[in-house]
Amino acid sequence: MHTLILGHAFFHIKKFAHRRFSFKYIQVIMALRFMTAEEAAQFVKNGDQVGFSGFTAAGVPKAVPSAIAKIAEEEHAKGRPFKINVVTGASSGDPLDGALSRAKAIGFRAPYQNNLDIRNAINAQEVDYVDMHLSQLAQEVRYGFYGVIDVAIVEAADVTENGEIVLTSGVGNIQTYTRMAKKVIVELNHKHKKELKGIHDICELKDPPHREAIPVFKVNDRCGSPVLKVDPNKIVAVVETELGNSMSKFTPIDETTAKIGQNVADFLVSQLRLGIIPKEFLPLQSGVGNVANAVLGCLGQNPEVPAFTMYTEVIQDSVVKLMKNGRITFASGCSLTVTDEAMADIYHNLPFFKDKFVLRPAEISNSPEVIRRLGVISINTALEADIFGNVNSTHVLGTKMMNGIGGSGDFTRNAYISIFTCPSIQKDGKISPIVPMVSHLDHSEHSVNIIITEQGIADLRGKTPIQRAKTIIENCVHPDFKELLWDYLKLGKTAHTPITLQAALGMHIEFAKSGDMRKTNWADYIK
Ligand code: COA
Repeated sequence: MHTLILGHAFFHIKKFAHRRFSFKYIQVIMALRFMTAEEAAQFVKNGDQVGFSGFTAAGVPKAVPSAIAKIAEEEHAKGRPFKINVVTGASSGDPLDGALSRAKAIGFRAPYQNNLDIRNAINAQEVDYVDMHLSQLAQEVRYGFYGVIDVAIVEAADVTENGEIVLTSGVGNIQTYTRMAKKVIVELNHKHKKELKGIHDICELKDPPHREAIPVFKVNDRCGSPVLKVDPNKIVAVVETELGNSMSKFTPIDETTAKIGQNVADFLVSQLRLGIIPKEFLPLQSGVGNVANAVLGCLGQNPEVPAFTMYTEVIQDSVVKLMKNGRITFASGCSLTVTDEAMADIYHNLPFFKDKFVLRPAEISNSPEVIRRLGVISINTALEADIFGNVNSTHVLGTKMMNGIGGSGDFTRNAYISIFTCPSIQKDGKISPIVPMVSHLDHSEHSVNIIITEQGIADLRGKTPIQRAKTIIENCVHPDFKELLWDYLKLGKTAHTPITLQAALGMHIEFAKSGDMRKTNWADYIK
């Protein structure tokens, strides 16, 4: 099938000699194109569009991107251009976004990032960044909105000579990238076990007018294959690695985060008591980070909440813990975004976990159709929200990209109940994340049901704009900002949405001027 590079095959057999190789494995090694990351990176050329597997740092190739970054640095040192377009499932991690952006090797990037180096490059307009709903990129690539995929690079736990790939801890959009790519590079990561086979459910949606219903009616339904099938003739390189995802550990939960988590849990229990959430409970989606971890912890401890399921995009350490003590019975996601310790725990207890997880492509894990059908309850974090219920998830003070919208829009717009959380103050009390008007809009008032801070809960369902404003100010705003926001509301003329245009961004303007929103004086804006 492929050209045999015997030297490399034996080099790698020796390098990984501590592993036990079956005869079949040796055959596969002989048949495939084994080479170093540096050699494989040579297949990627200046101007190429490269699609990477994975979602967050989970399942993302690590060795080849770093080797591409080295090529870019060498080319730049010779005065030659070298930049590639990078499309992934979501954020990626330092070996990809970090290394490539430090090497000034990224021209275009979609659909999400959360790395400091690339964020700085994006905000300096050195990288063209398209921030997208994560469910949409695979189909938009197929529709041809972004041109061709030259190379797909996929992290694998196993690969066979007929092109069947067992993915690792993240999927993303790799089903589309590998099918469309001219060349495929496989990073065979021995940190992962091929016994992971069975945890993935890989399928690719057909495009309109041939799109069919996604047959996922329960969180644990499957609609695809346990392996990613790639045309073996396109596999130009297999690179062996043994690199972990280096997921950062959670910072200990502080008082504010714990209170937000408690408020979310209390709200969900209230809905359960009212019968609004059925007694069996509904699947949860929860964002990444400390708040999400705290919320799940609080729900897990609450005896009124029955054992529940997750239909989410990112499965975090807290889910693994709650599964072990029986509080979460099943989790569907796009990645196991867990620390190396939690991943080791999963491998250690694989027979227990294997039928409790499914990892799907982002267009299925974040599918509006499935989310709406299952009645998913979404819980995401806002950077800022306004008193009328609009939410900004992405742009600090309206201009600087933080991370991106991620999956928050996919879930919020289609949720059974959509919840946003945030602390009531930021930056030592100088910023109120609740403002008269968001400085950038990601989720409109039409999609946002509930806002929760450590101060309390604002239920916006069935309320007019003015009723929403009163509820948010009363229940969620920090005492230092309450009077300021009540005073703003009084400025408004009688109207369905009483905005005072000349003052609506006054708190942001004050922060830019003095560094403290508390100094806002409405009289400055209504002269
Ligand atoms: N104005 C200015 N700065 C603000 C701010 C505001 N309203 N709100 C937060 N910040 C600053 C914080 O002070 C902090 O600054 P620092 O990095 O200098 O300390 C920074 O922004 C991050 O805030 P933090 O409270 O630590 O945020 P987080 O880690 O909880 O993340 C989001 C919040 C919104 C950035 C994050 O949830 C996100 O990227 N969401 C979009 C994607 C998403 O929702 N995905 C979910 C599906 S999995």
